[in-house]
Amino acid sequence: MTPLIIGNWKLNGSIEMIKSILQPIADAGLGENVVVCPPTPYLLPAHDVLKSSKVRLGAQDVSQYAQGAYTGEVSAAMLKDVGCSLTLVGHSERRGYFGENTPLLRKKVEQALEVGLEVVFCVGERLEVREEGNAIAFVLEELQCLRNLPPVIVAYEPVWAIGTGRTATTVEIAEVHCAIKAAMGENVPVLYGGSVKADNAASILAIDGVDGLLIGGASLKAEEFMATVPR
Ligand code: PGA
Repeated sequence: MTPLIIGNWKLNGSIEMIKSILQPIADAGLGENVVVCPPTPYLLPAHDVLKSSKVRLGAQDVSQYAQGAYTGEVSAAMLKDVGCSLTLVGHSERRGYFGENTPLLRKKVEQALEVGLEVVFCVGERLEVREEGNAIAFVLEELQCLRNLPPVIVAYEPVWAIGTGRTATTVEIAEVHCAIKAAMGENVPVLYGGSVKADNAASILAIDGVDGLLIGGASLKAEEFMATVPR
């Protein structure tokens, strides 16, 4: 399987960055296994830049609601309408800073699947959970959110590895990815995220059970991001 490489810009972006970062990515001849998730206001200009390429567009979040009087929300159908093929759900920053919990996340996943968006469902333990030896149990518990839903993509992102420069070890990644596949099915793609950079991407992709990468900081530089894509 060709690894899925997703760039998550988080709360970073401008019209200028759409040109300076996305244009080289659009021009590089990359495949549909590469996805970029800019902030919502930039989805449409990003779509414009990427339409000459196979690189796909993704959203960082989606509303739990389909439509109506929900000020500030962006629905799954709207994301689809402006060219997204995928959305992240349950990123640890959404869980941690915005209090997103299992019932809410399940509604978001349902909304996205309903309109045919692929879902990348993010899971991952905090440092104290890992230190207590409960990382796998914690991640499997988070995945209960998806029970009886159609298959989605899972991203394992240990919270302590996000934006810290500290990646999980090969053994830690392999253990969790294998546990996720054992619980969810061998065919469920499982991505790794957390301080992935150009210089560690290939070795992480080589780990058993890793089907792709979810990349934050390193997706904000075109050359660095493209260097994470195996060719
Ligand atoms: P990072 O973020 O690559 O900056 O660690 C990863 C993520 O949060 O998806």
